[in-house]
Amino acid sequence: MSGPPDGATVRGYRPADREALYAVCLATGADGQDASGAFRDPQLLGHRYVGPYLDLEPRLAFTLEDAHGPCGYVLGAADSERFYRAFLDAWLPPLLARLPEPGPEPARWGEDDRLLAELRAPTLTVPADLGAYPAHLHVDLLPRAQGRGHGRRMVQTLLAALVGRGCAGVHLGVGPRNRRAIAFYRALGFGEVPPANPDAGTLLLARALP
Ligand SMILES: CC(C)(COP(=O)(O)OP(=O)(O)OC[C@H]1O[C@@H](n2cnc3c(N)ncnc32)[C@H](O)[C@@H]1OP(=O)(O)O)[C@@H](O)C(=O)NCCC(=O)NCCS
Repeated sequence: MSGPPDGATVRGYRPADREALYAVCLATGADGQDASGAFRDPQLLGHRYVGPYLDLEPRLAFTLEDAHGPCGYVLGAADSERFYRAFLDAWLPPLLARLPEPGPEPARWGEDDRLLAELRAPTLTVPADLGAYPAHLHVDLLPRAQGRGHGRRMVQTLLAALVGRGCAGVHLGVGPRNRRAIAFYRALGFGEVPPANPDAGTLLLARALP
């Protein structure tokens, strides 16, 4: 499945990448497809899935860069419970002070309103079944970088960093309709966590680390 070499390299995240990585998040945020048409605020998705990782776990953030610039990322948190606490207690409050409230009528909410509401009442904990897999990750690549082996290389880079921290296992959530990503994670040794996922909206996958 790997395409021809394109000279792209995986390197540690740099603060100058931030805007480009937010853009990657939006360009892949609808079950792996472009979500830009669904959001009024192009930064909102990145505030949830990119910014906190760059600030709270910068050494577990890696950028994929090709001749046109940053085109992908893998982001991780080694201790998800601790990460969520820092996200909720320290990272999120100043952001919420700047963000609008969701619209008054939930029946008329769009994606911005839904995410704004989620950020104002976040339920972020690691499910009990995932206790053996304390780390979690997110990986997204722009279409031009997909299908060339970069995703595999990026996840392997993050897993090596997690092993270096003595991490016992890692989990992630994926939209059940994102068949490509599910096949990708399975090819990298991730399996569905039994028993059945209590959150039907997200498929939880995990793998132990050596
Ligand atoms: C999912 C994603 C990270 C995979 O990265 P990638 O660079 O495209 O995948 P790779 O080329 O490294 O593939 C690695 C392995 O995954 C499997 N795989 C990848 N794409 C696949 C597909 N479309 N169908 C089946 N298997 C697939 C293959 O086994 C492949 O190994 P091979 O190249 O030896 O055949 C990337 O396509 C992406 O960012 N997609 C959009 C955003 C997204 O969906 N992110 C995940 C959100 S949870």
